[in-house]
Amino acid sequence: MTSQTYTFRIQRNMPGQVGTVQSHWQEYKVEAEPNTTILTLLETIKGGQDGTLTFRQSCRSAICGSCAINIGGRTRLACKTHVGTVAKDGVVEISPQKNQPVLRDLAIDIRPFFARVHGIKPYLQEGPERAGKVTSTAYDQVNHVTQCIMCGCCYSECTMAEVNPKFIGPAALAKAFRFVSDPREGLKTERLQALANPNGIWSCTRCTLCVDVCPKEVAPMEAIVKLRTRGLNKGVNTSAGAKHALAFHEDIKQTGQLNEFTLMMRTLGIVGSLMETGMALHLAKKGKIPSPFPHSVTGVDELRRMYESLERSPIDVETKAKEAVPE
Ligand code: FES
Repeated sequence: MTSQTYTFRIQRNMPGQVGTVQSHWQEYKVEAEPNTTILTLLETIKGGQDGTLTFRQSCRSAICGSCAINIGGRTRLACKTHVGTVAKDGVVEISPQKNQPVLRDLAIDIRPFFARVHGIKPYLQEGPERAGKVTSTAYDQVNHVTQCIMCGCCYSECTMAEVNPKFIGPAALAKAFRFVSDPREGLKTERLQALANPNGIWSCTRCTLCVDVCPKEVAPMEAIVKLRTRGLNKGVNTSAGAKHALAFHEDIKQTGQLNEFTLMMRTLGIVGSLMETGMALHLAKKGKIPSPFPHSVTGVDELRRMYESLERSPIDVETKAKEAVPE
């Protein structure tokens, strides 16, 4: 392979007054072959051009997760990313992870991220739902999610975390799935109830970015969807998110389309809906007033038959590994 000159455009961040960060972009030129990793080139820059450039790294093998940064508009592991795959016209733009406080240059404060992980109680608990036997299929289910290396790529790209910093986030929820799936866990239902609280499983918008960027193919969003299903199967259905999903389900089954006129009431209740009066008026002003008289779409009979068929023989949504039937 022939080497070429790449321009690294790196966001430099310096802590300023309390809680503020001063940022500017700085360019460096490096000679490299296209299959050289971004991490190697950051080290080249730090060793030969600018010793003040700050970033994290440790294993160099896509195992420790510490080198996750924003490269070419996507959060990736610097040690797993080849410069030739991300350079545009020879330029590579690099900045720290998003949705996380920046300490300096490319290094973020990882404490809030791990506080979320600790918040889901990442350990087995004694309780009545503990099963005595761990089958190989149960192991597969748990093992898939434990591939997560806690790099934070998913949280950095999460569109919900961007607008709601209280959202537990895809990594912590995938971790929660690992414990809900473990036959040795004694408080599965209690976990599902806690995860259905605001800022939990029902806050995910299913944008799929966490699935796209995960360097270990953990697919956190799939874990979140499974947690929702498991919660509903266990009767954890009183949260606004669960009511919203059930209202969708019922409408489509009955008429083939949503009854948006009553959807908010069925999701948030009377008091919750009244609190959204401002938004309703805003929508009304824009002419977006749903009809209060639902009508069935063409072919709804066929749709109902599909529902009945699915209810008789449900599709297994647990697609990622051989299913261990949840307790
Ligand atoms: S340095 Fe450990 S994952 Fe990249």
